[in-house]
Amino acid sequence: MDKAYQKLILGNRKFAMSKKYDNPDYFKKLSLGQKPDYLWIGCSDSRVPANEVTNTESGEMFVHRNIANVVVHTDFNLMSVLEYAVHVLQVKHIIVCGHYGCGGVRAAMGNTAYGLVDNWLRHIKDVYYRNSQELDAIENLDKRADRLTELNVITQVRNLAKSKIIQKAWHNGHHVAVHGWVYGLNSGLVTELQTVYDDKNDIEAIYRYEFDEPH
Ligand code: CO
Repeated sequence: MDKAYQKLILGNRKFAMSKKYDNPDYFKKLSLGQKPDYLWIGCSDSRVPANEVTNTESGEMFVHRNIANVVVHTDFNLMSVLEYAVHVLQVKHIIVCGHYGCGGVRAAMGNTAYGLVDNWLRHIKDVYYRNSQELDAIENLDKRADRLTELNVITQVRNLAKSKIIQKAWHNGHHVAVHGWVYGLNSGLVTELQTVYDDKNDIEAIYRYEFDEPH
C-alpha cells in the first residue's frame, strides 16, 4: 500500500483514539448534531486549514473553501452553504479569510492562461481592474499581490453583504457579522481588515433589498 495514503488511515485511528482518550463522549456528543457559531469562507490552499489556524474543534465551524476565497452570487455551491449556515444553523459570524502568498491571487495578476480556473480568477481580475490605479503604483510585485489579496477579501465581504441571504437575516433581526481576514503564511497570524455589521446602508443603494414582512 502506498505510504502517503496509508498515513491517512493510521492518522485517523490515532485521531479517534486520542479524542476518545481525552473525552470518552467526544464523538457521541458530536453525533447528536451541530450548532457552530461561525461560517468560514477560505482559500483551498492546504496551508490555511480553518480549524487549525483558529484553534477550534470539530463542530465549531461550518466551512466553505474555494480557490482564492471568492464569493460569487451565482455560485450555487457557496450560496447553498451560506443559506444553510445563516438561516438554519444561525451562525453569528462569517469570516472571509484570504492569505498572503495566495497562488490564485498571483495567477489573477498575470496573463498566463491556465484552464478552467481562468474563469474563476476573472472575479479577481475585476477587483484588480477596479483598483488598478492603486495597484499599478505598487512596484514590488509581492507587495502588489499582498494588497490585491486584501482588496479581494474586502470585495468578498461586501459581496456577502450584498446578498439577499445576509440582508434577509439582518431584516429578521439576526445580527450576523461579516469579517474580512488575511492570514500570514509566514507568521501564522491573521489580520482583521474589515467587519460589516447589521447595516445594509454600508452597501450601495442599488444592492439593497426591501422585504415586505419578517419571515
Ligand atoms: Co490561496
